[in-house]
Amino acid sequence: MTQQSVLITGGNSGIGYECALELARQGWQVIIASRNKEASATAVKKIAQETSNNSIVAMELDLGSFSSIRRFVKEIEEKNLPLDALVCNAAVQMNKTLVLSPDGYELTFAVNHLGHFLLTNLLIKRLLANSSRIVIVASGVHDPKMNTAMPKPFFSDIEALAKTGGSDKNKYNGQLAYVNSKLCNLLFMYELVRQIEKTGLVNNSPLVTVNGYDPGLVPGSGLARDYPPALRFIWEWILPGVAYVLSPMFPTINPVWKSGKALARLVTDPKLKQISGKYFPSHSKWQEAPSSEASYDVELARELWQKSIDMTKLKTKESSLLH
Ligand SMILES: NC(=O)c1ccc[n+]([C@@H]2O[C@H](COP(=O)([O-])OP(=O)(O)OC[C@H]3O[C@@H](n4cnc5c(N)ncnc54)[C@H](OP(=O)(O)O)[C@@H]3O)[C@@H](O)[C@H]2O)c1
Repeated sequence: MTQQSVLITGGNSGIGYECALELARQGWQVIIASRNKEASATAVKKIAQETSNNSIVAMELDLGSFSSIRRFVKEIEEKNLPLDALVCNAAVQMNKTLVLSPDGYELTFAVNHLGHFLLTNLLIKRLLANSSRIVIVASGVHDPKMNTAMPKPFFSDIEALAKTGGSDKNKYNGQLAYVNSKLCNLLFMYELVRQIEKTGLVNNSPLVTVNGYDPGLVPGSGLARDYPPALRFIWEWILPGVAYVLSPMFPTINPVWKSGKALARLVTDPKLKQISGKYFPSHSKWQEAPSSEASYDVELARELWQKSIDMTKLKTKESSLLH
């Protein structure tokens, strides 16, 4: 049997790393794509040692930069790497001040949404060729009905969101930018399903499946790297123990290995082979469940899709989903 191959953005740390480890254990070829070369090299070495799987590779990718994404995809094409799955996992949470990407967009929106939008479109031909699975990592914080310590998603329009992460660049709120980007992840996920369906169905199933995932609250990952030192200490050293103890009773809080394994299941579970356009959150122990009302807004999703094409300057010849 030919070895299956998965690309995981942000696979050198946290949930992405644990997902990479689990897939490597199951014999997959894993491509880790992140910015930090050293962290990626260490991750590759650790996974290879732990699993005796020597087909783990790291590639450099900065999702905050359109030119880096285009360079990365060119490299994949030159190496002719087949892809059976794409896990859009990487994310940032910027808590200090408004930072713009090299292309001029608020960095959280740029990395978490625009970067994955462009990457997926540039790779879609390759993914369609293998009837692949795409998994988009979102978060429960996108849903105003969930009790989290984060603000509720809110933005006035997509242009303002892209420039400020919310509605007002004079009152930058990094947590708001983050929850808004996580809502964008799901708007993108549902629109991607519709766009793929337009390319045709085989036996009533889409050629590529796309699903959304929420890991729950997963302390100990690198996501708090921009928080003040005291909060970072609690996140890195105290809360992981709490998560370990509470997780069996409270499915919304999980140790990082548990969420990573659950993410890997969405890539491998044969029962999900033909399941597309569904959301798998931690609060339902990663069984299919509805996402927020706003995430199903078809008009907003279409507008986000079109504006993302404009912002990334995606050309018709670059994506099989554009006509
Ligand atoms: N931890 C939680 O409580 C929690 C809760 C809900 C959802 N999530 C979601 O889970 C996913 C994984 O987060 P995590 O908690 O595991 O955090 P993490 O440990 O910080 O992992 C984030 C990964 O993203 C990569 N990354 C950041 N900026 C990037 C860029 N510009 N280009 C390419 N890669 C980039 C990082 O690597 P480099 O720095 O090397 O680039 C890192 O590997 C995210 O989508 C997050 O929103 C996490």
